[in-house]
Amino acid sequence: MGDQPATSGKSAENGARHVAIIMDGNGRWAKKRGLPRAIGHQRGVEAVRRLVRAVEPMNLDCLTLYAFSSENWKRSEDEVDDLMNLMRRFIKSDLAEFVANGVKLKIIGDWQALAPDIVAMLEDALERTSKGTQTLAVALNYGSQHEIARAAAKAGEHGAITPESIQAQLDTHDLPPLDLLIRTSGEIRLSNFLLWQAAYAEMLFVDTLWPDFKPEHLQEALDDFARRERRYGGR
Ligand code: IPE
Ligand code: IPE
Ligand code: MG
Repeated sequence: MGDQPATSGKSAENGARHVAIIMDGNGRWAKKRGLPRAIGHQRGVEAVRRLVRAVEPMNLDCLTLYAFSSENWKRSEDEVDDLMNLMRRFIKSDLAEFVANGVKLKIIGDWQALAPDIVAMLEDALERTSKGTQTLAVALNYGSQHEIARAAAKAGEHGAITPESIQAQLDTHDLPPLDLLIRTSGEIRLSNFLLWQAAYAEMLFVDTLWPDFKPEHLQEALDDFARRERRYGGR
């Protein structure tokens, strides 16, 4: 027998411990209403806030959100500025609530390359939420291929390059195994998100545009997940 596959992090009740979401469709949400994309992004932040407030009773250990990809720099300067400003505002407005609610923030991706004031805000937020028990991992300036390449290079510095040694160097090394990956807005692709971690994750693609995504949608996804049979190649 070769290496055992990464086992599920499922609890006894088939519950997901780690859910990741590709929050897509802000632009189309706005377009449908004849509004600027920036408004779609604002409403997207509200959807994040609603969801983070609701995950506590869902018994998740970790919710990972794809907020800004390493490819999103290709967008117009105005749109990138809007997204960065929303991030600044969100940290300012919601950090105290995170701390009060036991949310532990984690950032994945090349976030140290963001604007220095954002990096400083994130460092402060990481420090202030470090005692939290439920992880909110936010992917910022994140690209999975780059993450894997970086991890492999690091693994090589320390010894043999193996799946385990790469895994140990990924940004997500301290998170539970990914159980469920959701993408909103009807697109059926991963867009360079958690390629390694998704090896045996369940996937769910929903048509809902991100600003319309409600805690009920996540609950439905968790119910769907609980009915699935995961096999990891065995029988
Ligand atoms: C997701 O919504 C937000 C980010 C990628 C930052 P989009 O902005 O991609 O919305 P669509 O895909 O254009 O509708
Ligand atoms: C993926 O969405 C990135 C985030 C949700 C942050 P995109 O809208 O950037 O992906 P593509 O361009 O449709 O693949
Ligand atoms: Mg999109």
